[in-house]
Amino acid sequence: MSFENYQAFLKMNIPKAIEFKDDKLIILNQTKLPLTEEYIITDNFERIALAIERLEVRGAPAIGIAAAYGLALSIKNIKNNIEQIFINAYNRLSSTRPTAVNLFYGLNEIKKIYDNHKNDSDIYHRLVERAVQIHKDDIKMCNAIAENGLKIFKKKSRVLTHCNAGALATGGNGTAVNVIRLAYENNLVEFVHVDETRPLLQGSRLTAWELKKMGIPFSINTDASAAVLMKEHKVDLVIVGADRIAVNGDVANKIGTYNLAVLCRYHNIPFYVAAPSSTIDKNCFNGSEIKIEMRDKKELIYFNNYQITSEEFEVFSPAFDVTPNELISGIITEKTLHLPPFDFSNV
Ligand code: MRU
Repeated sequence: MSFENYQAFLKMNIPKAIEFKDDKLIILNQTKLPLTEEYIITDNFERIALAIERLEVRGAPAIGIAAAYGLALSIKNIKNNIEQIFINAYNRLSSTRPTAVNLFYGLNEIKKIYDNHKNDSDIYHRLVERAVQIHKDDIKMCNAIAENGLKIFKKKSRVLTHCNAGALATGGNGTAVNVIRLAYENNLVEFVHVDETRPLLQGSRLTAWELKKMGIPFSINTDASAAVLMKEHKVDLVIVGADRIAVNGDVANKIGTYNLAVLCRYHNIPFYVAAPSSTIDKNCFNGSEIKIEMRDKKELIYFNNYQITSEEFEVFSPAFDVTPNELISGIITEKTLHLPPFDFSNV
């Protein structure tokens, strides 16, 4: 990590979501936050796959990096049947969560190295080297996104964000939350409205925790209150992260993002997305091609193991939705602030 990035981390006072040390992956267990800071330390790819499935590590860039380390670790100390073990690990990690393209980006980058160097005696170290590079690239991209994001602020603003697109969701300082942080440091953010983000509360548990640590003023609102906040002129702009961006600029992100974009259009409020270019899927022309993860009905029937409604009831619980490009004012990547009409075929 560069000196500036390290300084930014110190300033933010936020533990890293993932760290690779002594050939082990250290994952901050996000399901326990903000009440408990607990770490999972493992070199087992199956444990890493479980951590992704359970959202112990979550957020598109962070799961891509965790999966890359997981795939590299799958052949650590393996002498026989390396190919079979590698393919099993690739398939297992690919099956964890379908929507964030970063997961597949991370896995495919490791696979490319494996395919080109499988007969090398130091193949494990080559894979680790690539995973570390993916992690470092993400740190850099997060910082460049923050710099490019400053362009969206015309005045000191009240910002609304959804889910968690902060340090916890990436290898670095975050995407949407990192834009907010840098803008706050430049006296361009007055207040942050944090959507709690049903059903797993990444907003009220994780984004609120990060903002508190950074000393940025905020309050948590139910997702359903966003319209009232906008009607009362308490929101100047909305900024969110992304799990997959199609070539035409349609954006998959946490369920409820589309609602916000529709509300923004009605209230004439700019709606921005911030994401590294590893979130752009060049094989996906528009949002209808994005596979949306469906969540277990238990997450709506129970709350913290407490049953709140009948197991017999049917549930509709997508983890993500797709916001059509025409509702998006701009997409901030590490390269620039992209304005509509979007065309990511050459980005
Ligand atoms: O289900 P999650 O918590 O992994 O969903 C995360 C999001 O939707 C984030 O907004 C997105 O991954 C961008 S993180 C920089």
